Amino acid sequence: MASCHQLILALVQLCLLVLFVNCRTLNKCSDGNLCSDRPPVVLVPGDLGNQLEAKLDKPSVVHYICYKKTEEYFTVWLNLELLVPVAIDCWIDNVRLIYNRTTRSTEAPPGVDIRMPGFGQTYSLEYLDPSKRSVGMYFFTIVQALVDWGYTRDADVRGAPYDWRKAPNENKAYFLALQKMIEEMAEKYGGPVVLIAHSMGNMYTLYFLNQQPQAWKDKYIKAFVSLGPPWAGVAKTLRVVATGDNNRIPLISPLKIRSQQRSAVSTTWLFPYAHTWPSDMVLVSTPEANYTVRDYKRFFTDIDFEDGWEMRQDTEPLVKALEAPGVPVHCLYGTGIPTPQSFSYTSFPNGEPTVFNGDGDGTVNLLSAVQCKRWIGQQKQPVRLKELPGTEHVAMLLNYTTVEYIKSVLFSP
Ligand SMILES: *[C@@H]1O[C@H](CO)[C@@H](O)[C@H](O)[C@H]1NC(C)=O
Ligand SMILES: *[C@@H]1O[C@H](CO)[C@@H](O)[C@H](O)[C@H]1NC(C)=O
Ligand SMILES: *[C@@H]1O[C@H](CO)[C@@H](O)[C@H](O)[C@H]1NC(C)=O
Repeated sequence: MASCHQLILALVQLCLLVLFVNCRTLNKCSDGNLCSDRPPVVLVPGDLGNQLEAKLDKPSVVHYICYKKTEEYFTVWLNLELLVPVAIDCWIDNVRLIYNRTTRSTEAPPGVDIRMPGFGQTYSLEYLDPSKRSVGMYFFTIVQALVDWGYTRDADVRGAPYDWRKAPNENKAYFLALQKMIEEMAEKYGGPVVLIAHSMGNMYTLYFLNQQPQAWKDKYIKAFVSLGPPWAGVAKTLRVVATGDNNRIPLISPLKIRSQQRSAVSTTWLFPYAHTWPSDMVLVSTPEANYTVRDYKRFFTDIDFEDGWEMRQDTEPLVKALEAPGVPVHCLYGTGIPTPQSFSYTSFPNGEPTVFNGDGDGTVNLLSAVQCKRWIGQQKQPVRLKELPGTEHVAMLLNYTTVEYIKSVLFSP
C-alpha cells in the first residue's frame, strides 16, 4: 500500500515536473519569443582591442637585451614595459608580420608564435593590460554593466578576440569559431544573440554576417550594435603607414613603430574607400603630389612600401560592397571631436605632417561612420542611427549614454 502510494506520489511529481518544464518551454519559447529575458551577448573588439601573447624560440634577435627563447607565452599587447626605448625594438621584431607576395598572406617572423588568449571569455578585451591599469581599460564598463543587469561573464556574455593585425581573409578559423560560439550560446540560453562590436570589429562583424545565409541570421542574431564603425575606412591610416603614429606617446618614435604598423594588413584594409570618399578630396599633400582615394598605388610606391598596395588589393573587396547585414542594426557614432582628415607634409614621408581635422569621433571620420544609413530600405530589418555628440572613439565604450542604449536593445521585446 505504502509503496503504491509512494509510487503514485512520485509519478504525480514527475508529471508535474514534466508539465512545469513543458509549460516553461511552451510559455516562453513559443511564437519565437525568448526563453530568457536576456539575450546572450558576444563582444567583437576593434583594432588593438584584445590581448596578444607571444612565445619565442628565435634564431636571432635584434638586440642583446631581447629574449630569444621563452618557456611560456607572455603578454605582448598591451604591456607598456615592452614599449620603452630599446625594449621596443624587441617588441617590433616580435609583433611585426612578414608579407609573402606569392601566398598573398602574412606570417610571423621565424621562431615567433603569437596567440590571442581568451576566446569565449571577456577578460582579454575588458582590459588590454592584464595588470588592469586603467590605461588599458576597454570593454570593462560595458561588461560590468551587463553583469549588474544579471549577466554572467564567460557564460551569457562572451568575447570574440582575434588577430587584429590581419584582415578577415587571413582569419578564416576565427569566423568558424565565432559561428560555433553563437550557435552554442543561442541554444544554451534559449534565444538569438546580440552582437556588440567596436571600431574595426564592425567590419569584421559585417564580413561575418555577409557570409551567413539569411535563415541562419534570422535564427541566431537578435541585433547588431555597432559602436564607432569605420564603414568607409579612416583617413588617419595614411599617416600611420607613411610616417608611423605613436598615438601621442612621446616615448615612442613614430618612424620606429612604423615598420610594425606597416606590416599590419588591417591598416591598409582601413584606408578610405572610394565608394564614400569624394574623389577630389586630398588625403595627403606633399611638395610633389596630392594623393586622393584614387592615388593609392602611387602613394605606396612613393613611401617605398609597395607591399602595401598588394595588401590593399587583397583586402579591399572584403566588405567594399557594404552589403546590408540582414539583421537589426543600431549604429552609434561620436561627433564633434576634431578628427584627422588630411595631412600636409613638407618632408615626405619621414617628417611630421600638419594635420587638418574634420568631424568625427577623433579617429573615425563622420562620413565613414554614417554609411550604415545605406541599409535603411535595403533590408527589411530596422536600421537605427544614433549620434553621440562630444563622444570620443574609445571613450564611447565608457559613456553612460552608450551603456543605457545597449540596455534598451537588450531588454526590449
Ligand atoms: C612565400 O611562400 C612561398 C610558397 O609557400 C615560398 O616558397 C616562399 O619561400 C615564400 N617567400 C618568402 C620570402 O618567404
Ligand atoms: C595640390 O593641390 C593644391 C590645391 O588644389 C594645389 O595648389 C597644388 O599645386 C597641388 N600640388 C601638386 C604637387 O600638384
Ligand atoms: C557621453 O555621451 C553624451 C551623449 O553623447 C555626451 O553628451 C557626453 O559628453 C559624453 N560624456 C563623456 C564623458 O564623454
